[in-house]
Amino acid sequence: MTKVAVIGLGYVGLSLSVFLGTKADVVGIDSNSEKIKSLRKGVPYFYEQDLGLYLKRSMQNGLIFSQEITKESLDRDFVFVTVGTPIDKKGKIDLSNIKKVAQIIAKNLKSVRTRPSIIIKSTVIPGTTLDVVKPILEKNGLKEGIHFDLLTNPEFLKEGSAIKDTIYPHVTVIGGSSSYAVKKLAKFYASIYSKNHKIIQTNNVTAEAIKYAANSFLAARISLINSLANICQRLPGTNVDKVAEVIGMDPRIGTQFLKAGPGYGGSCFPKDLQALISFANSIGYNPVLLDAIKSTNSDQVFAVMNLIKTGLDRIQGKKIAILGLSFKENTDDIRESVSIKLIKLLLKQKCKISVHDPKAIENTRNVFGDKLSYHKTTQDVLKDSDCAVVMTPWEEYKKLGRKDFQIMKHPLVIDTRRIVRVDDEKINYIGLGVGT
Ligand code: UGA
Repeated sequence: MTKVAVIGLGYVGLSLSVFLGTKADVVGIDSNSEKIKSLRKGVPYFYEQDLGLYLKRSMQNGLIFSQEITKESLDRDFVFVTVGTPIDKKGKIDLSNIKKVAQIIAKNLKSVRTRPSIIIKSTVIPGTTLDVVKPILEKNGLKEGIHFDLLTNPEFLKEGSAIKDTIYPHVTVIGGSSSYAVKKLAKFYASIYSKNHKIIQTNNVTAEAIKYAANSFLAARISLINSLANICQRLPGTNVDKVAEVIGMDPRIGTQFLKAGPGYGGSCFPKDLQALISFANSIGYNPVLLDAIKSTNSDQVFAVMNLIKTGLDRIQGKKIAILGLSFKENTDDIRESVSIKLIKLLLKQKCKISVHDPKAIENTRNVFGDKLSYHKTTQDVLKDSDCAVVMTPWEEYKKLGRKDFQIMKHPLVIDTRRIVRVDDEKINYIGLGVGT
């Protein structure tokens, strides 16, 4: 059986571990003892559909978890590095996790007799695998291509569908300088994915660049549709969804990622855009368009704020119900969530905030403590409020209707995703991107 180690058990590493764990002999490694403790009990430490199921299945198949990178854990065919690559205070990529892991691997690799492929799956700025990781791994006299191989294999999964995306990726990109190593990994992927699965073989730096290109392209689409939504907002009779639907019929544009909203959040687009901007500047290119994507996105929360102000005479002291706290549906992740930014702005305006989310209440409580009131049902959160703001497109909000909003003190609904349907003159409905 193929032997695999996965170092770093966040969304990418844990999804990969539990999927590969059904096909191979896998050890999942993370330095965080709480995470390891929970995983060893078979309990995921974040919410993701089917994660618990696959965790259980894989553990029955032999998946184990460890807190340490040992020589046994490196004596494997494939060692995936999936640690976080945040940005530092200056907005540059922070490679300290990757460097730390590379140092520990280098120390233990000396006594490993096999020739493992070290695979960088974390999102890293172009050049990192060969200019940063390789010198650390070779410091003790070991050589790439003799003692180990070094590959770059970016991940494209989305939170909220992480397991599904891991099992059915749209493409696999493998970058490396040793065709032996690239082919070895390609063969492994070919054995676990369907016959038609696309596997692209390239060099390390191209693989790294592809990841940033994908994320900046996707972020660009969102900022562009959000700009168009803000224009539609001022054009009575228009609806950005109709505009998106029709432009999406042009195959050159396509239908996906054209949903206008409060701006993108999450642990990827904001940090990757910023890291790419800093990197571009550092190599002598001023990326004006990337800057515009980023600032359009950070301004979008003010577009939401303006809609609230338009609907209320005076915002101070008003009771505002926020529906949806996670940065997108089907996750409890609130990192860079626009809901959190909006709540901070509203608290500054002395609003009383009550919140609801099917999964992200606890994470939000960790940020705001008793500054907000937390509710388990949409009925409770809406009761007596002056304004309801729909922020995250959770399935259950799509079912809300006239009767649900009638229990508000002043039925004003700001729908940033245009998912609720209310045709009642007594309810003031404002959809972001809908010109009235
Ligand atoms: C994103 C990419 O989609 C993944 O391909 C990539 O692997 C991942 O980043 C990463 O680099 O790790 P993710 O951030 O998990 O995935 O989730 P998305 O579905 O891309 O959503 C990001 C944000 O964009 C959310 O706030 C979402 O609400 C927003 N969005 C998305 C829109 O406002 N409109 C859309 O049409 C699509």
